[in-house]
Amino acid sequence: MESNKKNTNQEDKKEEAEGLQEGSEIEYVSYGGEHHLPLIMNLVDQELSEPYSIFTYRYFVYLWPQLSFLAFHDGKCVGTVVCKMGEHRNTLRGYIAMLVVLKPYRGRGIATELVTRSIRVMMDSGCEEVTLEAEVTNKGALALYGRLGFIRAKRLFRYYLNGVDAFRLKLLFPRPEAHQHQSIMKLGFGTYELGSDQQNEETSAE
Ligand SMILES: CC(C)(COP(=O)(O)OP(=O)(O)OC[C@H]1O[C@@H](n2cnc3c(N)ncnc32)[C@H](O)[C@@H]1OP(=O)(O)O)[C@@H](O)C(=O)NCCC(=O)NCCS
Repeated sequence: MESNKKNTNQEDKKEEAEGLQEGSEIEYVSYGGEHHLPLIMNLVDQELSEPYSIFTYRYFVYLWPQLSFLAFHDGKCVGTVVCKMGEHRNTLRGYIAMLVVLKPYRGRGIATELVTRSIRVMMDSGCEEVTLEAEVTNKGALALYGRLGFIRAKRLFRYYLNGVDAFRLKLLFPRPEAHQHQSIMKLGFGTYELGSDQQNEETSAE
């Protein structure tokens, strides 16, 4: 038991040193088939509090493979984003279901790049907004999405199985006619005030 723990610590340290190595290239690829599924599941199972079944993963990656991305470092999968999109009140809406970057690789913009790629595909596909839920205690995720222009649209009471509340975050894309008058963030997404849509937000969870 103890030696296993020691090994794990040593592996963590080695991984950390590799992860933090400056100048090493991160490769981003969109979901490419069944061989990517265990990589995604492994990362998400390690890092997210919510347990997902294989059917949930398959639902997302089979129906919207173009919206899921993986980040690789020296052949090892170190981050992933899993999303979907669909009709919502006569508009097309994107949804970010899972986002994870391995600890030693955090703080290098990998999550930002993964999410940005998914959002670009959503925009190009005609989505008018993107939503997701994040634990109210998840400072890292809230900071990351805040930086990308997401606003807190709603607080969902005890949303997760662990009893923690969630914020529903929302990113609204510019309408073409309003586009030139809005300030555009450096990442290319708009930042907008809440409109009447937010006040009429539905009460049920995704
Ligand atoms: C949240 C998570 C995906 C961020 O991954 P990452 O690759 O480190 O994120 P980035 O490097 O792209 O961060 C971009 C910005 O987000 C903010 N941010 C990210 N992690 C942060 C943290 N722990 N604390 C404060 N701000 C943070 C910062 O503003 C950062 O920009 P900066 O480094 O220039 O200050 C990662 O911490 C993770 O996998 N966490 C566990 C799983 C999780 O919580 N997923 C989100 C579920 S909603």
